[in-house]
Amino acid sequence: ALVVRNRMRNSGKWAPVAAVVKELEERCATPVGKLRQVADAMTVEMHAGLASEGGSKLKMLISYVDNLPTGDETGLFYALDLGGTNFRVLRVQLGGKEGRVAKHEFEEVSIPPHLMVGGSDELFDFIASALAKFVASEGEDFHLPVGRQRELGFTFSFPVRQVSIASGTLIKWTKGFNIDGTVGEDVVAELTRAMERQGLDMRVSALVNDTIGTLAGGRYYDNDVVAAVILGTGTNAAYVERAHAIPKWHGLLPKSGEMVINMEWGNFRSSHLPTTDYDQALDNESLNPGEQIFEKLISGMYLGEILRRVLLRLAKEASFFGDSVPPKLEVPFILRTPVMSTMHHDTSPDLKVVGTKLNEVLGIPDTSLKTRKVVIQVCDIVAKRGARLAAAGIVGVLKKIGRDNAVKDGGRTVIAMDGGLYEHYTIFSECLQCTLKEMLGDEASSSVVVKLASDGSGIGAALLAASHSQYLQPVLS
Ligand code: GLC
Repeated sequence: ALVVRNRMRNSGKWAPVAAVVKELEERCATPVGKLRQVADAMTVEMHAGLASEGGSKLKMLISYVDNLPTGDETGLFYALDLGGTNFRVLRVQLGGKEGRVAKHEFEEVSIPPHLMVGGSDELFDFIASALAKFVASEGEDFHLPVGRQRELGFTFSFPVRQVSIASGTLIKWTKGFNIDGTVGEDVVAELTRAMERQGLDMRVSALVNDTIGTLAGGRYYDNDVVAAVILGTGTNAAYVERAHAIPKWHGLLPKSGEMVINMEWGNFRSSHLPTTDYDQALDNESLNPGEQIFEKLISGMYLGEILRRVLLRLAKEASFFGDSVPPKLEVPFILRTPVMSTMHHDTSPDLKVVGTKLNEVLGIPDTSLKTRKVVIQVCDIVAKRGARLAAAGIVGVLKKIGRDNAVKDGGRTVIAMDGGLYEHYTIFSECLQCTLKEMLGDEASSSVVVKLASDGSGIGAALLAASHSQYLQPVLS
């Protein structure tokens, strides 16, 4: 051990390390000029995706939400949120303008990993059974008028081609889900059948993406919300578009003149994106090669995995962790983004937390301070590239809706934000905020607000279920 440690102190050992890190830094660089190109490319792709079906990598999916919550919604509604490693069930008693969200309760259930890659019925049965249990626990302070069926807002956070507010077929799985037999199926029908198998009498009134739910929930509390972004396991954005700016929409023009669009920006790609061999390899070995390239550079499912790949290369090519390669470092996805975040936020002088995590998670004991510092450096490069690209994506959306310049009327542009990556990875979210400022300039950025709306998407889905309830009288004008 002494020999190894002495060799580690030898500066000759560090030259290859420095070279690998330097190369990473160069490849991941996101000077503001490059970010502007990314933002512009995003705007261009948005136009293309709206122009025709399949016109762009950006699907720009029509959500059938042409009215956002007003505050008038009343009644008891359920929501079910499926899309990450957990799913949530929720009930709310809506009390209109006076009562607002009078009461709400939720439960979170983690999805057993084998169900994420199993069969469709197994997954939907599991969800429906948790929902049935939750419904059975409904207390007396929730009120459902006699003779009415319970209604549900279903947040399904994957790309879905909708044909109405309450139906749509799955285009593809993302984020580590890979379930046979669901692609091309109506996910509302799948859930409804599973609920019937559970003996649960409930109707899905709204099928929404998490971005749409977050936008709806955000708007309920703040009238200036015009877009929503998710930065969690995956990443995506939705925004309010003018209906006549959607050439591919052949339906009736909505009365509001507006339509909410689910961009599916995780699938964005552009030659301007700064990518590395690590990204290339990660993509090749992923469940969905060639897909979700923007997501693979930014979101929580992948940041820790990129870090692992860099550390593995350092271990192999520069004996970064000593003479042998730590076996655990070879295991895909073993290094999760929350661990990366914990290490990255370590402020102790000897980087004790980094040392502990490397030992606990990767089985690498006794790292030197210099080694730990390099680990932090790699975290910084990988996380900040992601945060800056996400900011560029937001600027692309703001450009599309003409909100990227200073406003004279003192108006605000609010982006509802949700997702664990943004919520918990402070260095990431602060970097995103700074980059927005850097790109928009002080004046314009002072009217742009990114507002954290934790689990806005659950309430949002319930609100949309309420505004699309089967018991609502059609409003005649
Ligand atoms: C993935 C999904 C998308 C979802 C996002 C955030 O990108 O495809 O539908 O909104 O993750 O959960």
